[in-house]
Amino acid sequence: MPDKQTEDQQEKAQEVAHKAASIPAPGPKTHVNKHMYKNRVSLPPEVKEQVVQKMQVTLASAFDMYSQAKFAHWNVKGDNFYQLHLVFDHVAEVIEEQVDPIAERITQLGGVANGTARQAAASSILPEYKVDTVAGMEHVAVLADALGVYCACLRNASDEIDDLGDGPSSDFYNQLIIDAEEQLYFLESHLEAGDVQ
Ligand SMILES: [Fe+2]
Repeated sequence: MPDKQTEDQQEKAQEVAHKAASIPAPGPKTHVNKHMYKNRVSLPPEVKEQVVQKMQVTLASAFDMYSQAKFAHWNVKGDNFYQLHLVFDHVAEVIEEQVDPIAERITQLGGVANGTARQAAASSILPEYKVDTVAGMEHVAVLADALGVYCACLRNASDEIDDLGDGPSSDFYNQLIIDAEEQLYFLESHLEAGDVQ
């Protein structure tokens, strides 16, 4: 017969598990901080604010893209498992390296880098990863779809920021686009020619 202490512990554990299951992520308490700090960067405040807003979307999407590549890396099965396991990890590595510079460009312009996992989930424009994907080539196609959207998101941000009059922040995206599109090429090269079109 379980003693009182064990029963209490079990009850407590159930309570914690129940609480965790009932908290949505991101939840109603997930907020984006839109505060802008004053600084000496010589752009009109309204331009800085609009540039920061565009950059926040790419920050959220980069974080989401990184975790989607990791999902593929962890869960791929079947033929060519090991090769694809490495390919997906390389995609994750390249995208992870983009998160920090985007976040810090936002703070350089006076914004708050809204880059927690919950904020990223709330603001990313990427499609949901198909989490029941199993086979290697299916993961390649699903990840390529997401990465294509991510690359387009970077290009759009660069174009729109250029239109706002912040050339350096627009140019900042050039290397990110080239690196992300290189990873897209690696993924698409695994697909049959018919699938690429
Ligand atoms: Fe790993």
